[in-house]
Amino acid sequence: MPIARWIKWTFGLTFLVLLAGPTGRACQSADPVQLTAQEDQQRMLGLLHIDSLRRGADGRNTEAPNAANYDESKANPYPKLPDPLTLKNGHKVTTPAMWWNQRRPEIVEDFDREIYGRAPRNTPKVKWEVTKTTSELNGDVPVTTKQLVGHVDNSSYPQVMVDIQLSLTTPANAAGPVPVITEFGFIGGFPRAGPAPVVIGPTWQQQVLAKGWGYAILAPNSIQVDNGAGLTKGIIGLVNKGQPRQLDDWGALRAWAWGASRALDYFETDRSVDARRVGIEGHSRYGKAAAVAMAYDQRFAIAFVSSSGEGGVKLHRRNWGELVENVAATNEYHWMAGNFLKYAGPLNWNDLPVDSHELIALCAPRPVFISGGATKGDGWVDAKGMFLAAAGAGPVYKLLGKKDMGTNEFPPIETPLIDGDVAFRQHSGGHTPAPNWPTFLTFASRYFKESTPPAANF
Ligand code: GCU
Repeated sequence: MPIARWIKWTFGLTFLVLLAGPTGRACQSADPVQLTAQEDQQRMLGLLHIDSLRRGADGRNTEAPNAANYDESKANPYPKLPDPLTLKNGHKVTTPAMWWNQRRPEIVEDFDREIYGRAPRNTPKVKWEVTKTTSELNGDVPVTTKQLVGHVDNSSYPQVMVDIQLSLTTPANAAGPVPVITEFGFIGGFPRAGPAPVVIGPTWQQQVLAKGWGYAILAPNSIQVDNGAGLTKGIIGLVNKGQPRQLDDWGALRAWAWGASRALDYFETDRSVDARRVGIEGHSRYGKAAAVAMAYDQRFAIAFVSSSGEGGVKLHRRNWGELVENVAATNEYHWMAGNFLKYAGPLNWNDLPVDSHELIALCAPRPVFISGGATKGDGWVDAKGMFLAAAGAGPVYKLLGKKDMGTNEFPPIETPLIDGDVAFRQHSGGHTPAPNWPTFLTFASRYFKESTPPAANF
């Protein structure tokens, strides 16, 4: 090769390698790729070789041809669910060891690849800083509140900064470490327009304090912003160095759950918290996140999964209210792995290798409380579809020596099914967790004994 051409070739190649970096992704100095949610979703569809997706149910216009279904006779087109206790090779799971060593990993892999995406094996370290400590009264209980920031190490890609916002409140007069209920909180307002639910009587925080326990609020948006355009930023964008996702990369739900696990890491270091008795709670999209956090991190001791609906613990195979197609749409697909879009395109709900009863089964043997409101006001989330998922997880709880709900019959509204380890109650309110807090706390008290006598005001 003539020397001039050799020099040009070698330098050209070196330039390309520098640009692509060792992983084939763009070099570290590039700013995050900017795509709209629509562009990013199109890019995912391109990777999947899909031209278009089926449209979701219309939850607002009952006259629309695709109006959401609320007729039970049409709700179960695919009543046969994947069996949580049959291995992919057809063998029955008959012992706890088979569950832990064989079947559970199969189910985790399916959720990772097809539903929520994989959390990276190595995520950057989080350094927690207490930015403020205050002493105050909540109701008549003296409390200590710490504001915390979890600084995520971004030395691998300084263009993206992630500072997780968390607050922790514990009774000031506690005799020792207390259980803590952590909420994925709507800090900065409810994500949808409309009036906030009216709270009568003590707030959930005050109900938790009355048990002698503490509470924490975690801001999901500080971990990962709630839209597709933000996927090249937040923790997902930081790990991907500003590049768009691969088809099995994690979505926002998994990222929010990851953030909850990092909060739990902090609780393990805080002497006011009994980290073996930390619960996770969330409502609506954060109900989905609470279910994912509980399923994936076995350190969470209990979960309150409120109105999680489609993408949460509602069965994907149910035709009621919100559908797979809605969650695959431009405004919600970012919650999930890219691969999930397939099931709203060429494939159908029945092609999903797992269903939500198996997400609940991943929580076993730990206690889970599943909550939803009345069809009028909260029909979108499909309380019965969530009940059926809870029932479908029962055999796994039993295999692990725990109690299922005790029935496969959908109970009348407001019937608490809280004697087993997987629990359910449909309240008669709308899209809110509020009416079920007392029932959840009764259920939780079986596991977390009241720590100290409810702290009185001096
Ligand atoms: C929409 C969405 C639901 C979600 C809810 C919320 O209704 O379709 O899946 O749970 O918003 O988070 O408020």
